[in-house]
Amino acid sequence: MPSNAPVGGTLVNRVLNESDADQLKSRASDYPAISVSPAEVWDLKLIAIGGYSPLTGFMKQEDYASVIARGRLKDGNPWTVPITLSVDDATKDALKVGAPAALRDEDGNLLGEIHVSGIYPRQFKEEAEGVFRTSDEKHPGVERIKQAGQWLVAGDVNVLPETLPADEQGMEYRPAAVRAEIEKRGWNNVVAFQTRNPIHRAHEHLIRVAMETADGLLIHPLVGETKAGDIPADVRTACYKALIEKYFPADRVILAALPAPMRYAGPKEAIHHALMRRNYGANQFIVGRDHAGVGDYYGTYDAQQIFETYEPGELGISNLNFEHSFWCKGVGGYATTKTSPFGPEQRIFVSGTKLREMLGNGEHPPEEVVRPEIADILIEYYKTL
Ligand code: ADX
Repeated sequence: MPSNAPVGGTLVNRVLNESDADQLKSRASDYPAISVSPAEVWDLKLIAIGGYSPLTGFMKQEDYASVIARGRLKDGNPWTVPITLSVDDATKDALKVGAPAALRDEDGNLLGEIHVSGIYPRQFKEEAEGVFRTSDEKHPGVERIKQAGQWLVAGDVNVLPETLPADEQGMEYRPAAVRAEIEKRGWNNVVAFQTRNPIHRAHEHLIRVAMETADGLLIHPLVGETKAGDIPADVRTACYKALIEKYFPADRVILAALPAPMRYAGPKEAIHHALMRRNYGANQFIVGRDHAGVGDYYGTYDAQQIFETYEPGELGISNLNFEHSFWCKGVGGYATTKTSPFGPEQRIFVSGTKLREMLGNGEHPPEEVVRPEIADILIEYYKTL
């Protein structure tokens, strides 16, 4: 059976073939140029490879407004995060609606082109409150949209093949290739796990439980831009590989990268994360405590509750919810308040701050929280700071 259908039914591909790419390279110097920010380059790559299917370009105003107000594209497909290309006043004045523009990275390298179909102002307050539930500029996602240009350029994109690397951190990242691998393995029921952290024992608990009823697990770390203080993707990748090699059956796990920037939008991003995983072929998605949260902007289970606001089946991927999990000494293993009769005094809990402090001092946290193989890698990383 083929893996789960992408959002909108067709996997988008906006990567130019060799000859179209050559043509673009010779024409592009005549086009006005748009400098694409690092976070937007990740979005561009995801559009190109179909990770954002059904999007074929940066959003037009009707989709932007509809996504913010109702968590759906104008055509009704679920979508919760605006995918936009921002420019400043001077760039806006150089662009023409109905004409192409060259997409360049901040060093001026050509990435691809956009056929400009519209230019509209960012609605900062609506976007911040609709997507992030706050307009507090201390929120890293809100800060990013505040600092970006306030004009948004809509249009379909075409991307040069060389904009897309052979792999991301040594991992496959193209939806078509991940789907092919799922099919090769004959999996019908695929559960995906999002993470932006090293996999600690609590994460491991969730994925092991999920694997019991699925045919296979897609460990799908986000490797795009994250906020300062998060562990860099290359260090995390070393952790993922060490963990899987020793503690997971290779034939039941696919490790692949998600080249998306982190937005820290909590519930809205949980839906976004799930829809992207549908595009990679999964049909179940793990949502634990404070998924994609930051600080205390979101309630512990808001990211689970938002799934109930869609009609059954509408998202085309189901959420597999997990309570806050902890090592319980009374139980002698991982548990939640649903499965353990013991109180908080029986839990082994190490806060994020304490964890960083211990690893920074070269100390191993309790094995019940971080496996020693992972701690070793993280201790080496903290030495380089
Ligand atoms: S996130 O930004 O990608 O959500 P993280 O990598 O920490 O951050 O979490 C990955 C997934 O594991 C998320 O679904 C999150 O809710 C879940 N999770 C993390 N820690 C726990 C925990 N102790 N108990 C239950 N779920 C957890």
